[in-house]
Amino acid sequence: MKPPRAESLDEVPGAPPFGAVLCRLGDLPPRGSKSFQFRDGRLRYDIFIQRWDDKVYAYRDACPHLKLPLDWRRGHFLDIEGQHIQCGHHGARFRVEDGLCIDGPCKGEYLTPVRITVRGDEILVA
Ligand code: FES
Repeated sequence: MKPPRAESLDEVPGAPPFGAVLCRLGDLPPRGSKSFQFRDGRLRYDIFIQRWDDKVYAYRDACPHLKLPLDWRRGHFLDIEGQHIQCGHHGARFRVEDGLCIDGPCKGEYLTPVRITVRGDEILVA
């Protein structure tokens, strides 16, 4: 299975526009994460940003298995070893760098990436 195309928040109702600052790199510890919820009426779109030392990745907060939010505790996405993203429902584990599920009921599927960019200390909608 190929990784899905990265989604743009610019196309999501209720989300900030292209170029908007989501948060600052300094808001996240080296392996820290932050979740965001965007709403427009009854529509809801959840994402999270995972810092991975000098890099950051953004994914939709929806597990490929049952489309449930991944965090096992609000805003915590990494497994106990701090090596993979782990779904809090049935334990699927995903590579941080590309969202591939390497273990669990959705093995071989991918998290959906969300387009962001880093400019200096700012993490922006891309
Ligand atoms: S909902 Fe994520 S592993 Fe089942």
